[in-house]
Amino acid sequence: MKVSIIGGGGLVGSCAASSLQYGRIVREIALVDVNQELAEGQQLDLLHGASLISDQKITFGGTEHVKDSDVICITAGLRRKPDESRLDLINRNVALFRGILADVKKHGYKKDAIVFVVSNPVDVLTYLAIKELGLPPSQVIGLGTVLDTTRLRSMLAQRLDVPPTQVQVTIFGEHGDSMVPIWSNAQIAGLPLEKFPTVTSQLIAEVEKKTRGSGAEVIKKKGGAGFAVGASIADVIHSIALNQQRILPVSSLQNGLYGLKDVAISVPTVMGRQGVLGCIEIDLWPKEKMALQNSGKVLRETIDKVLSTK
Ligand code: LAC
Repeated sequence: MKVSIIGGGGLVGSCAASSLQYGRIVREIALVDVNQELAEGQQLDLLHGASLISDQKITFGGTEHVKDSDVICITAGLRRKPDESRLDLINRNVALFRGILADVKKHGYKKDAIVFVVSNPVDVLTYLAIKELGLPPSQVIGLGTVLDTTRLRSMLAQRLDVPPTQVQVTIFGEHGDSMVPIWSNAQIAGLPLEKFPTVTSQLIAEVEKKTRGSGAEVIKKKGGAGFAVGASIADVIHSIALNQQRILPVSSLQNGLYGLKDVAISVPTVMGRQGVLGCIEIDLWPKEKMALQNSGKVLRETIDKVLSTK
């Protein structure tokens, strides 16, 4: 499998490449960037470690790499300022993103390619990619709340002193302020979270607040997310590459589940080699369902704004 990373010179793109290298699963990683020197620098740095890690092909170049790529991962874009919401980014990032889509279209892509959007605001840009590329919607996804979900699980694990991989709680909705942690189904090692020793509603509220603010916190402290977003991207790409059909909270076009329609948003989604194989609807607390519908509304309103300024 060949993965091209558009924005491969940047922090997010290069961390994704590093995670894919340590994953040792995909065959080729191509770093695509308008800044060719930066892309080459990242490619060299990755290549230098190859003899210790894996036998993948690591390349760099322009958008022509998308032609024979199985996964086209778009990470390029402007980063928000610490006090800016992801939706504020929309005005600045949409024009840039449309340019990337046009470029990808110009070069052409494989019929079964998966387009994987990471640039923010990710749900809105995923929707644009679905509408403008002409690929079946099942082949276009966004990172959605995969990153928020690992942040929540990992920080909850730290607070409770349990293994992070044994925390089961998922965030649905927008990758942004209206995200919805689904506490109604949360578990630690298969045990109900609310009955777990030392868990209090205050602790849950604190971890949730910290998760919502995580993106802004890392921007402020280190310039932006790198390692965790890279690991999140690789997790999704590995589920595609190995056709694992794992259930992940990626963003995809919704058609009625949870009352969500004509919006790209995160709900539990089965991810395989062909992309989205289906989404899963479960019973939620009424307040979670309402929050999810509100999240869909927030996104739909932004999409309408973007489409009206075309
Ligand atoms: C974050 C960016 C990637 O949440 O949206 O850190």
